Amino acid sequence: MVESASDETVLREAVALASLAPSIHNTQPWQWIVHPEQAELYADRERQLTATDPDGRSLMLSCGVALQHAQVALAAAGHPPEVERLPDPGQPDLLARIRLGTPAPAGPDLVREYQSMLIRHTDRRPFAPQYPPQDALDELTSVAEDAGAHLHLVRPDQVTLVNLLVSRAGGIEGDDPEYRAELAAWTHRDSADGLPPDVLPSDEPRRVPIRDFTPDDDAEPTEVPDAPPVADEYARYAVLHGDRDDEPHWLRGGEALGAVLLAAVRLGLATSPFSDPVEVMATREKLARDILAGLGHPYLVLRFGVASPEAPPPPRTPRRPADETTRVEPE
Ligand SMILES: Cc1cc2nc3c(=O)[nH]c(=O)nc-3n(C[C@H](O)[C@H](O)[C@H](O)COP(=O)(O)O)c2cc1C
Repeated sequence: MVESASDETVLREAVALASLAPSIHNTQPWQWIVHPEQAELYADRERQLTATDPDGRSLMLSCGVALQHAQVALAAAGHPPEVERLPDPGQPDLLARIRLGTPAPAGPDLVREYQSMLIRHTDRRPFAPQYPPQDALDELTSVAEDAGAHLHLVRPDQVTLVNLLVSRAGGIEGDDPEYRAELAAWTHRDSADGLPPDVLPSDEPRRVPIRDFTPDDDAEPTEVPDAPPVADEYARYAVLHGDRDDEPHWLRGGEALGAVLLAAVRLGLATSPFSDPVEVMATREKLARDILAGLGHPYLVLRFGVASPEAPPPPRTPRRPADETTRVEPE
């Protein structure tokens, strides 16, 4: 007789896979505790970017993606999970408890979602000269809705304003020595977290500039380019947003982000997130008012496109080993 794996083993394997989740500056700000019958997800506040993300919005979004990835891993292994979010008001950093539900074989959609999780990565390279199909983008908006958040597809007439807001946020943050020190500490590193130099963006003019990972303190603010050609002419942009600007909604927003990013892989689209316009209050408020028409709280801007077919995929960003992010607690 083949013995089935214990709940603890199944949970341990799933939370190890959840480390593939994207996170702000690849901080991987999560800590898992695996008990014999449940896993607990905690926010690791030591890894919060205090200058860039003082509210913890991006930290919560990142943990939300990890939670979504753990659920995908469990469901794909035939163990659809039961999840309790923010179960203990006395422990605000305990973000979720996960237990195994009734076993059920994974269907092909789940298997595809699982496979997408294994290969997804942020792609900051300029995209190919080909628009992402509208029906694929529409599908991403329904995926976000189903997962408890919203995705606003930026209209062509709104892209100039998005460019302006992203550029302005970059200028404001770049003037802040604490922001620059934090960015320097988390980039160009050869470690299991943070960003290695080979995944950072090239500096050609873009339709909307990707975060400047090496800002100068005396740099001039980036001007909106007024003459083509600029890279990313065929990119589409979207704003992930939610009904409230608080931790429970950011966590849900992160789960929706995970679902959207995995669906994008299935639909053949490359993605990269921009959190800089949300990190600065003035540009966040303008995103809410002028791009979302006051109908939601912005969490993150996303860039979608078709990856250039000639270029090899960008190198993978490393992850911390499971024994650093997970503690196993015997009964
Ligand atoms: C909440 C959040 C905010 C992010 N913000 C940015 C950003 O402003 N600019 C950027 O280039 N990448 C951003 N990223 C992408 C991360 O840097 C990336 O996910 C991480 O380095 C891991 O790499 P991977 O996505 O290729 O696995 C963000 C990711 C998340 C989850």
